[in-house]
Amino acid sequence: MSTSEFVIGAIYLAAATLFVVGLHLMRAPSTARRGNLISAGGMVLAVLTTILFALVTTGGTWVGWGSLVVGAAVGAVFGVAQARTVKMTAVPQLVSIFNAVGGGAAAAVAFASFVADTNQTPLSLTVSIPIVLDVLIGSVTFAGSLIAAGKLQGIISGSPLIFPGSRVLNVVVAVIALGAGVRALFGPPDVLVLLVVLIAALAFGVLMVLPIGGADAPVIVSLLNAFTGLAVAMAGFAIDNQALIIAGALVGAAGTILTLQMAKAMNRSVGSIMLGGFGTGDAAASTGSAPEDLTNVRQLDADDVAIQLAYAQHVLIVPGYGLAAAQAQHEVAELAKLLLDHGVDVKYAIHPVAGRMPGHMNVLLAEANVPYDQMLQLDEANSAFDTCDVALVVGANDVCNPDARKPGNAVSGMPILDVDRAKSVVVLKRSMHPGYAGIGNPLFTDPKTGMFFADAKKGLADIVTAVKEYVTA
Ligand code: TAP
Repeated sequence: MSTSEFVIGAIYLAAATLFVVGLHLMRAPSTARRGNLISAGGMVLAVLTTILFALVTTGGTWVGWGSLVVGAAVGAVFGVAQARTVKMTAVPQLVSIFNAVGGGAAAAVAFASFVADTNQTPLSLTVSIPIVLDVLIGSVTFAGSLIAAGKLQGIISGSPLIFPGSRVLNVVVAVIALGAGVRALFGPPDVLVLLVVLIAALAFGVLMVLPIGGADAPVIVSLLNAFTGLAVAMAGFAIDNQALIIAGALVGAAGTILTLQMAKAMNRSVGSIMLGGFGTGDAAASTGSAPEDLTNVRQLDADDVAIQLAYAQHVLIVPGYGLAAAQAQHEVAELAKLLLDHGVDVKYAIHPVAGRMPGHMNVLLAEANVPYDQMLQLDEANSAFDTCDVALVVGANDVCNPDARKPGNAVSGMPILDVDRAKSVVVLKRSMHPGYAGIGNPLFTDPKTGMFFADAKKGLADIVTAVKEYVTA
C-alpha cells in the first residue's frame, strides 16, 4: 500500500466515523439536527478526499479530477437549491428523487466500470458480482423511485395500477433480469447482456411500484431508500472505494430497519411488495359515502368547537397530512397552550405514518416547540382515547379510519388511532374528500363526530380566537 493510499484510507475511516456518530445522534429528535450536520461533514470530507486522490493519481489531468469537481459542484448547487426551496409537504417526493439519483448513479458507475473492464477479460467473480448486483439494484431503484415520486406528487395516480397478468409479468421480468445477470457473471463478458440486465431491472422497478397504492407508499419509499444504499455499496466494491462501501452499507442497513418498522406499523409483509402490491386490499373499491354527500354529517363552527374544548378535561389532538399541508403547526400549538393554561389536559396522538414521511408529525410539531412529552405514540395514544373527552382530528384521515379493522379495503389491517373510542370527536378538514388511500371514512358520519370544514390554519386560528373569547368572558 502506498503512502497516499494509506492517508486516503485513514481519512475515509474518519469520514465513516462521522457518518456513524451522525446516525447515532439522529435517533432522538433533540439531537437529530446535529447528527445531520455531522454526517454531512463526513460526506464533504469523503468527497474532497476523493477529488484530491484523483488529482494525485491522475497527475493533474483534467479528465480525472476536473470531471469530479464539475459533477460535485452541479450536484451541490442542485441539492442546496432543492433543499432550500422544497415545501415541507413535498420532502417525500424529493427524497424519492434523491433515491432515484443515487440508484441511477450507482448503476451508471457499475455499467461504465464493466465497459472499461471488459477489455481486460476474463473478469473475476469478485469484480463482476458487485457490478451485476449494482446494475440490477441501482436500475430497480432508479425506475421505482421515479414512479414513487410521481405518485407522491400526484403526477401518476396514487391508486394501485394493476392489470390482468401484472403479477405474472413482474415474475417474467424478474426472471429475465436475474437470468441475464447470471449469464453476465458466468459467460464471456458482453456489454449487451449487461444492457439486458439494466433494461429488465428498469422495467421491474416500474412494475414493482405501479401496483402499490392506498396507504402503502411509506413501505415502498423506505425499501427503495435501502436499495439505494445497497447499490451505492456495490458501486464502492466495483470501483474499489471504501467511502462508498461504508456510506452505502449504512444507508442500506438504516433503510432496511426503517422498512421493517414501517411494514410492521402498517401490518404489511415486505416480501409481497417485491412481486406487486399487497394483495386484495389494495385493489378493493372505495368504501364510505361520496365526498359530496353530507347526509348524516353534523357540521360545527369555530364557536361550537371552542366550547367543547374548553369544557373538556382530556383532549387528544390527532394531527395528519392536512396539518402539514396547511402549515398550521404554530396555530395548533397555540391552541394546545391556551387550553393547557385553562386547565385542560392536552396531548397529541401521533401515528407512525401520519403525513407523508416517517416522523412527519414529530418534526412538524417540534418546529412549533411542542414538548416531546406531549406527543403520545400509537399504543400510548390508543390507551388514552377511552378517557378522552374530545379528540380533535386536524387534517388526518386514513390514520383514524375505522374501516381498517374490516377486510377488503385499501387500509385493511393497518393499525389506526382509535379516535372513535373518544367520548366525542371533532374533525377539522376542508371537505368530505378522502385522504391518501382514496377511500371514505365512516368516522366522519359517526353520531359522536362533528365536522368543522375549514383549512387547518384558518380553522385553528378561528378556534383560538373563540377559545380566548370564551375563557376571558
Ligand atoms: P390523509 O389520509 O392523506 O388525509 C389527509 C386529509 O387532510 C385529507 O383527507 C384532506 O381532506 C385533509 N387536508 C388536506 N389539506 C388540508 C388543509 N389545508 N387543511 C385541512 N385539511 C386538509 O392523511 P393521514 O391521516 O395523515 O394519513 C397519511 C396517509 O399517507 C396514509 O395513508 C399513509 O400510508 C400515507 N403515506 C404516508 C407516508 C409516511 S411515511 N408518513 C408516506 C406516503 C404515504 P380535505 O381535502 O377534505 O381537506
